Amino acid sequence: MKKVLITGATGMLGCYVSELIDKKKYQVFCPTRTEFDLKNLVQIEEFIKKNTPDIILHLAAETNVDLCEQDVAHAALINCSATETIAKAAKDVGAWMTYISTSNVFGARGKLTYNELDLPDPENYYGRSKLFGEYMVQKHLMHDSLIVRAGWMIGGGPSRDQKFVGKIIGQIKNGATVLNAVDDKYGTVTVASSLAAFILRAMEGRRTGVCHFASKGLITRFDIAKLVAKSLNFSGEVIPVKSSKFPLPAPRPNSEGITSVFLKESDGISFVEDDIKSYVAEF
Ligand SMILES: NC(=O)c1ccc[n+]([C@@H]2O[C@H](COP(=O)([O-])OP(=O)(O)OC[C@H]3O[C@@H](n4cnc5c(N)ncnc54)[C@H](OP(=O)(O)O)[C@@H]3O)[C@@H](O)[C@H]2O)c1
Repeated sequence: MKKVLITGATGMLGCYVSELIDKKKYQVFCPTRTEFDLKNLVQIEEFIKKNTPDIILHLAAETNVDLCEQDVAHAALINCSATETIAKAAKDVGAWMTYISTSNVFGARGKLTYNELDLPDPENYYGRSKLFGEYMVQKHLMHDSLIVRAGWMIGGGPSRDQKFVGKIIGQIKNGATVLNAVDDKYGTVTVASSLAAFILRAMEGRRTGVCHFASKGLITRFDIAKLVAKSLNFSGEVIPVKSSKFPLPAPRPNSEGITSVFLKESDGISFVEDDIKSYVAEF
């Protein structure tokens, strides 16, 4: 039975991956933070050497964009050094690895969308730290790794979604009559459950390289709020606001939309309108 190590199994994406993986076919390790703390490079190396996984799904990261900006050394430790330690240990035990990266590796060049042939140009330290994580994976596991860049992730459902879509749904359900959402920052959406299914298929096929996994359609938070509102028959108003109204420590690119020249509908890519509608229906 092949052994699979999932890091970040408690996160939004990790919950779907650890639920979906076939536990009759794989022996699955989902270590807690106490057993596998990305701040403790010795501990994570020892964990991998001791348990010798055949496959590592590295989903854990410091995902707080503003914290990464305020504490760059922390971002570098969690997103770069820990990723390098995992990739190096993966090589030593002969494991295949996937690393989930982000559309935040793009943006500074000022394009609207970026495909896999565009060179990264991050605008903030979260994006830079995730990009250096990519370099570390490629340095140690060029032929045995898959890097998947995701867009604004949606998922978690009613019990766990604390992000934008969950908040908008919460506001509507709590009787709000007006919703404000930013209309001057563009991106693409990734449905966490679809990405989880893609990761597991890619794992079966030991896919390699770099690919972008996001729904089709460039969108703003305002557009997302309107789609959610429509799905819930919200009768109030959705008001566009400028991002300058919500100053944040980390700069956000004007657009970090991603498209793929490698993935197709058969890989699980669909239209953002359909994806948001289906996700809202889950609630
Ligand atoms: N969310 C997005 O919009 C988005 C978009 C593009 C790409 N991504 C990437 O997709 C991956 C999954 O994201 P997500 O949104 O599912 O993440 P998340 O919900 O923020 O969860 C992060 C996970 O990493 C773990 N983690 C954080 N610091 C750790 C540490 N020091 N030691 C051990 N574990 C630690 C957390 O464990 P605890 O439960 O113990 O905190 C949690 O399981 C990440 O690599 C992220 O960069 C996310």
